[in-house]
Amino acid sequence: MLATATIADEILDLKKQRRAILLAHHYQESEIQELADVIGDSLELARKARDFSGEVIAFCGVWFMAETAKVLNPHRMVVVPDRGAGCSLVDSCPVEPIREFRRRNPDHVIVSYINTSIEVKAESDILCTSRNAVKIVNSIPREKPVLFLPDINLGNYVKKETGRENMQIWPGACIVHATFPARRLAESRLEHPAALVAAHPECPETVLAMADFIGSTSAILEWCSASDAEEFIVMTESGIRHSLVRQAPRKRFYFVANENCNCSECPYMKLNTLEKLRDCLFRLEPRVELAAETMRRALVPLERMLAVK
Ligand code: 13P
Ligand code: SF4
Repeated sequence: MLATATIADEILDLKKQRRAILLAHHYQESEIQELADVIGDSLELARKARDFSGEVIAFCGVWFMAETAKVLNPHRMVVVPDRGAGCSLVDSCPVEPIREFRRRNPDHVIVSYINTSIEVKAESDILCTSRNAVKIVNSIPREKPVLFLPDINLGNYVKKETGRENMQIWPGACIVHATFPARRLAESRLEHPAALVAAHPECPETVLAMADFIGSTSAILEWCSASDAEEFIVMTESGIRHSLVRQAPRKRFYFVANENCNCSECPYMKLNTLEKLRDCLFRLEPRVELAAETMRRALVPLERMLAVK
């Protein structure tokens, strides 16, 4: 659906007035993606937030992504359309048990997926995203024991890919990807026998076992666009369809419904709307405000991740 002209125009005007950049994750509604300066996965958006030179970042994604942008831009304003746009992975990993783990296991390297709270990031040694998780774990000396948090499916995938034995994994899960049933993927393959399967590593092992390609949202986009195949079953949030169709208009993409909502949408991502985006640019609220000391501590593992090429 195209953005209604009035709200889209208001957003573009406000963007100019505020000297703002609009960053949008692939899981946002199409009408938001159409107005964005940058559309990307969590790693690309973190890099863009770092390179930004304006005054306001309007972050259309979920809260932990906006917090990451703020840590990289402590003197700039970061606003979000809806403060309620959280993430089940963040909720699955409170900071107290991580501090306790740190006290009891000072020898462990804590590798935190970027889908964590700012407080958990501040307790971590290095961060990763779904795009660079294997590379980040491989960058840690093999003899060092690792705690990987908070996604159990991504953790198991990384453990398998790196062949790392001394790696504990936190039992958190994404309510969208972890509930994609392998049974429905199998049915979809019967329906579309020529289709290749691309899956996000937050999916269950049974789904990943059927995938022709496993990667982050942007990696899936690049792989589907470059492939000679014409049809794909895409095991991630369906907001990515917007960029897939834009980059590969002649190809066909199928999505599989998960057990939670019988759809493939992230309920947190979908809280953001054009109206809320306009309002946040106008009011400059909800705004990300974080304690300076927590930001300073969270910046260390974030910079370590960004330094890994
Ligand atoms: P990406 O790293 O692929 O952007 O994933 C973020 C996310 O929240 C996946 O559900
Ligand atoms: Fe979090 Fe899953 Fe939504 Fe991504 S799709 S923001 S991991 S709940």
